[in-house]
Formats: sequence, C-alpha cells, structure tokens
Amino acid sequence: MKQVVLTGIKPTGILHIGNYFGAIKPGIELANNPDYDCYYFIADYHALNIIKDKQTLKDNTFEMAASWLACGIDPKRVVFYQQSKVPEVTELNWLLSNVTSKGLMNRAHAYKAMVEKAEANGDDPDAYVNMGLFNYPILMAADILLFNTKLVPIGQDQKQHVEMARDIAKAFNKRYGYTFVVPQDLISEGVGLIPGTDGQNKMSKSHNNIIPIFATEQELKKLISAIKTDSSLPTEPKSTDCALFNLYKLFATEEQRAAMAKRYAEGISWADAKAALFELINNYLSPMREKYNYYKAHPEVVKQILAEGSQRARAVAKETIKRARLAMGLD
Ligand code: TRP
Repeated sequence: MKQVVLTGIKPTGILHIGNYFGAIKPGIELANNPDYDCYYFIADYHALNIIKDKQTLKDNTFEMAASWLACGIDPKRVVFYQQSKVPEVTELNWLLSNVTSKGLMNRAHAYKAMVEKAEANGDDPDAYVNMGLFNYPILMAADILLFNTKLVPIGQDQKQHVEMARDIAKAFNKRYGYTFVVPQDLISEGVGLIPGTDGQNKMSKSHNNIIPIFATEQELKKLISAIKTDSSLPTEPKSTDCALFNLYKLFATEEQRAAMAKRYAEGISWADAKAALFELINNYLSPMREKYNYYKAHPEVVKQILAEGSQRARAVAKETIKRARLAMGLD
C-alpha cells in the first residue's frame, strides 16, 4: 500500500527561490518517490479568509497553479487540484465540526494572535475574528482526512494544524469507530534558511529581499548585482560565509561548489562572483521560466489540468464521505 502524502498551497503572491527550495522542490521529490501517492492542491477556500477581492483570488489561484506546474509538478504523478472544486471538503468540514471542541479551536495560534492584537488595541477580543479564521483548522483537517492522508509536508508554522487534524481524527474514530487514517506532519529540514539579497539570513517577501522564481533574465541580473557584499578589494580572498556564496551553493553541483570555493579563496572579484551566480541561477531557472510563460499564455491548459485533478480527487473524496456518513448514522 502506498502512503498518501497531501499538502495545501495558499494562493498568495509571488513565489521566490526560498519557496522553491523550501516547499516546491521537496514536493516534487516526494511526488517522484514511487512509495507515495501525492495530492497537492491550491487552498482557495482557506484563502477566502485573507483575500477579499474576487479578481485577486482568481488571479492568485491561477498564478499558483501555473507556477507549481512550471516548476515541474507532474499532474500524472500528482493529483493536482483546486480545493473548492472538491465540495466534499466542505461536507466533511461540517461532519468534523461536530466532534471538535471549541476549546481545541481556542488554542489555535492564528486565532489567539488575533485576540491578543485586539486586546492590545483595547478592542473587543473577537473584533478581528471571522468564523473562517476560527474554523480554519477544521477545514484543514477535512482536507487531510478526506484522502486517507498519512503524511502532510508543511512548514513549522503549520505544525499545530496537523496536530489538530490528528486530534479530530482520533475523536471521530473513538466516537464512531475507525474511519480516518491519523495523519502526521512531515517537516523537512531541507536546505535551511535561504539568504535574502540584502544579506539577511532569511529570504522573505516581508523583508523585501526576494528573488522571484520567474523573474525575467534582466530582473534576475539586476537583483543579483544588488546583492550585498563586504568591502574587500577585487583581488583579496573572499569569505564563503556570505549570501552570494550561500545562494550559489543552492543551485550548484558538488564540483561547481568546490571550484567556486577555491576561486573565493584565490580572490575572485565580487563582480565576477556575481556574474557566475547569475549564470548558474539563470541556467537553472530558464526552463522553468519558459514553461511558466507557456502556461500564462495558455490558461486553458492549466484549467484543464486542475479540472482533471479535481475529478480524480472527488472519486476518492466521495468514498470517504460515504464512510463518514454511514458511521455517523446519516445514511
Ligand atoms: N494552512 C496551510 C498554509 O497556510 C495551507 C493548507 C490548507 C494545508 N490545507 C492544508 C496544508 C492541508 C497542508 C494540508 O500553508
């Protein structure tokens, strides 16, 4: 029996190389492993909570799907779908709501953060909380439990949500008999933090120091030439403990990495080091950029892939719903 691996992708903004090495590349590697059956989806139901503009939600959903496909998600290996096109998610959400205590939801970090913010501002504690935010962990449990998921690849920030999905699965199984696989999180150590172009140790949109995956060649060149370096002279030996070298390492083979470390020690100029980094990254990203441009020009191809993914997802989802309804006495 293959293990089911499932993860949701929030359709927010531009993807950068930190996202690529942190989530997308590990996701592709899991999908290429024959031991796993992978389900990846664009979490547009979850995004409703943050994105209130209709066109933005549509654009971001398409953008995210096109991006993951361009990075190499193979829709034959992965059931790749749009969450809201699998309405069984919302049915399970309701069923699970009835075995979930409010106390469990009260402990969710995202909810608590909003309450604390309101209290700090002297507002009513729930002033910033809608039910979409409050119920977020139950919807996420529905995503996970619907597909008999064993492993949920996520970042550290989502760990509590997977814990809650486990609690909800166990509560249901205890009350109604074994129905759901109890999932566990899969937090990849991965490559660690990806440095930003400003030399900070984390690339992040909020730090404004990102390299977008699909930057044009000119944009990429400009971003790389602006990476912060120290003031050592062109012929002086350079330390490899810098953003420039750490970025190089991510894209390089062992041999390239060793050869570049040698050039640093021998005193490569920062200008040459940047030119080498540009070439390496550009070679790596350009096939992805081409695919991305293709999908942008052919949105119907992306929509067709998502539609097929949703069909395949629904076939499994319907079986799970049938089981849950029977267990609860609805049918
Ligand atoms: N909440 C996740 C995030 O913010 C996205 C998500 C939604 C998800 N449903 C999921 C992740 C199910 C894993 C499994 O990133």
